[in-house]
Parts: sequence; structure tokens; C-alpha cells
Amino acid sequence: MQDKSSIKIHRLSVRVFHWLNAIAIVMMVLSGWQIYNATQFWSDGWAFPAWATLGDWLGGGIRWHFAAMWLLMINLAVYLLIGLFSGHFKRRFFPVTPRSVTSDFIKAARFKLPHDHVNYNSVQKASYIGVLLVIIVTIVSGFEIWKPVQLQALGWFMGGYEGARRIHFIGMTLICAFIVMHLALVAIVPSTLIPMITGKWRNKAENNHVV
Ligand code: HEM
Repeated sequence: MQDKSSIKIHRLSVRVFHWLNAIAIVMMVLSGWQIYNATQFWSDGWAFPAWATLGDWLGGGIRWHFAAMWLLMINLAVYLLIGLFSGHFKRRFFPVTPRSVTSDFIKAARFKLPHDHVNYNSVQKASYIGVLLVIIVTIVSGFEIWKPVQLQALGWFMGGYEGARRIHFIGMTLICAFIVMHLALVAIVPSTLIPMITGKWRNKAENNHVV
């Protein structure tokens, strides 16, 4: 029998994308840290902790990085196509304006923003759109670092090989900052997690958190 108190809030394609994307991003970041360590990215000898890296050595880090890159790119491309053509982005990520983001941010900072399980608030909308754009720019700058000779035109646009390296590093840092904030928000409103797995949200009174 259909449970009338539960409603579907995340379609299957979004959930599959979300979790494959999370796995791919974590693999890319940890193997990227291994590559930074192995190539002495920091001139003062600082290194990412070994336990937080993937791949053990430069070649291993690069192999993990490339394997995860294909997973990330194919998964992201399918999500973007479905999101654009199904109306998912239009419905869930828009409208959003600087004014609505500022207003929701102020409410959230005062713990006066009620969490709506069906509609994202403007801060969520802006951060989801933002992280997707940052992921795309980070992938493109990664291609420039990988094939700087073949992709000279792209390099010119990104400030050459060194410019692309900087953009790639800044992109990685912004993605990590997003993950920290995203996980903190999920921890504050844990009832959002099960729907991202099952797709369904059970409308119970105790779910009306205020963030
Ligand atoms: C690692 C990189 C991650 C990225 C880039 C990411 C990105 C996103 C995006 C773009 C959405 C909106 C999806 C849509 O409606 O199309 C979303 C929603 C969500 N994510 Fe993530 N995510 C990441 C990791 C995680 C992790 C590790 C968790 C939980 C442990 C998580 C939990 C959630 C939940 C619960 C929602 C739904 C929020 C709500 O309904 O209010 N995410 N995420």
C-alpha cells in the first residue's frame, strides 16, 4: 500500500549522479593531493598528510586521478543533460537572485530559516549552481595542465600552463570548502540525508528544523 505521508523529492537520476559524483570528487581530491605532494607543489616542503592521499606515489596518484576523472566527467555530462532537458534545474535551482541569496543567508545566520524539504532555499540554490560551475572550470583547467601543447588556445585563455595550475588549485580549494559547508548543513538537518538515498521524504513534525 502507498504510504501517503511520504513524498518523492529526489528523482533516481539525481540520486545516482549525486553519489557517483561524491565518490568521484573525493577520489579526485585525495589523488590530487598525492600528486601535489609527489611534485613538491609547496616550495617550503609542506605536504598534505599521507593518510589523506590516494595512490601512494606519483604514478599511482595520477592513475587514480584519471580513473576518477572519467567517472566524474561522464556522470556530470549525463546529469547536466538530464537536468537541462527534464526541467530539473529550472524547477529546483531557479529563480535565484543576489537579493534572495542575501536575505536567506541573513535568516540562516540568525537561525531563522525554516528548512523546506521540497524546495531548496536560495543559499542552497546558489551554492549548488556555484559548485557545479567550479567543478566544470576545474575539469577544463585540468585538461590544460594535462595537454598544454595541444590545448594552447585554452592555455591562452587561462593564463598559460601556470595560470591553469593556479585555477585548478583554487577550484579544488573551493570544492573542498563547499564539501565542508555541505556536510555541516546535512549534519544540522540530518533528515535531508535519507531522501537523498531513497528519494522519499516522510513528512513528520520533528523534521521541521530551522537552520
Ligand atoms: C563530495 C561532493 C559533493 C557535491 C559536489 C555535492 C553536491 C550536491 C548538489 C549539487 C546537490 C543538489 C542536487 C540536485 O538537486 O540536483 C546536493 C544535494 C544534497 N547532498 Fe550533496 N554533494 C556532495 C557530497 C555529499 C555528501 C558526502 C553528502 C552526505 C553525507 C551529501 C548530502 C546531500 C543531501 C542530503 C542533499 C539534499 C539536500 C536537501 O534536500 O536539502 N552530499 N549535493
